Amino acid sequence: MDGRGLAGGASALAVLAFLVVLPVAQAQKKAPALPLRPIDALRAVPQGTAVRLAALRNDTRYRDTFLREFDSLTAENEMKMQALQPRRGHFDFAAADEVVRFARSNGKAVRGHTLVWGQALPLWLIDHGALDKVGLRLPPINLPALPSPIGKILGQTTTLLTGWRRDDLLAVMKDHVRTVMRHYAGDVAEWDVVNEPMAENGNLARTVWRRFIGPDYIDEALRTARAADPRAKLFINDFDVESPGPKLDGLVRLARDLVTRDVPLDGIGLQTHTHVGGFPDEATLERTMRRFTRLGLDVQITEMDVAAPLVDVARPERQQRQALAYGAAARACNAVRKCTRFTTWGFTDAVSWLSAGASGLLFDATYRAKPAYAAVRSAFARR
Ligand code: XIL
Repeated sequence: MDGRGLAGGASALAVLAFLVVLPVAQAQKKAPALPLRPIDALRAVPQGTAVRLAALRNDTRYRDTFLREFDSLTAENEMKMQALQPRRGHFDFAAADEVVRFARSNGKAVRGHTLVWGQALPLWLIDHGALDKVGLRLPPINLPALPSPIGKILGQTTTLLTGWRRDDLLAVMKDHVRTVMRHYAGDVAEWDVVNEPMAENGNLARTVWRRFIGPDYIDEALRTARAADPRAKLFINDFDVESPGPKLDGLVRLARDLVTRDVPLDGIGLQTHTHVGGFPDEATLERTMRRFTRLGLDVQITEMDVAAPLVDVARPERQQRQALAYGAAARACNAVRKCTRFTTWGFTDAVSWLSAGASGLLFDATYRAKPAYAAVRSAFARR
């Protein structure tokens, strides 16, 4: 690592391009303004990472590495509904505000993550129902698939105990989207409005939103988001949609349907949680991205990590394979003009949602850059 960093390398290239282009541009002063192609062609994709507030607060090395290497951040957990609306109608922005203030005061952009998701929900949202009236609260219930009619009766009973009226839940969802987006208008320019809407088979996942509002919860969330902050870019974000299969087909169908019906949507986030045992190659990922950009949408890699547990491959090999995975994704994003950001889900193995042994990020637990770091960096040096 030479210390210039991913972000530094990109700006150095931009300066270089500017110096090359400037005399040409001056010579053409009288001509109508032309786009400065060489700069454009060398523009590196902004790079981001998920961060944790506790680590930002307490760990200088963590903070400095972030500041040196990245253009933007995503709060790993602080902007999820569980954190922002712990009690119904009561918002707690303290932790998320701290993350946003840190980013803004250091000139970094913020990806908003996430408004409407089936996970990281406050308990009051899931257990609202008949028992709530007498002060009892049921924990979230995940029903196993039981044969009919037992399954049906059980399902209806739990729905009765934990269910919502459509209009009530719709109002809760809209209020959440509106309140959070207005709070951050001007500070957060991209939002994962809907996270992980797809099931593996290509249908909509059975989240509380889908179950009690209906499939149009997605339309409603996106329309509410656009009205709340018309300048923000609105994303749908999902995992396991990088390679061909029913889930990707389902997401493409959903995106096309939304675009066709003029429901506001600006981009698709490919989470890209992957592993050395199987990851999409560059051509596959590029094809996937183009299925969305063809619809007029942006795409981003939003949460990349590449788990490399030692049980899968030997130590030297795993770092090389991991570098291949990261390099392939970075090159694909670099090749697609409408791939507007490349975000990893953390940057050091010391602070990662993956187990320590997975070693999934660009820097190891002692902040040494891995081969994957160089692979990403060289991919983005060439746009
Ligand atoms: C994860 C966080 O990294 C963990 O700290 C937390 O316990 C669970 O959520 N897809 C997403 C992210 O959209 O929000 C998830 O983040 C990882 C999978």
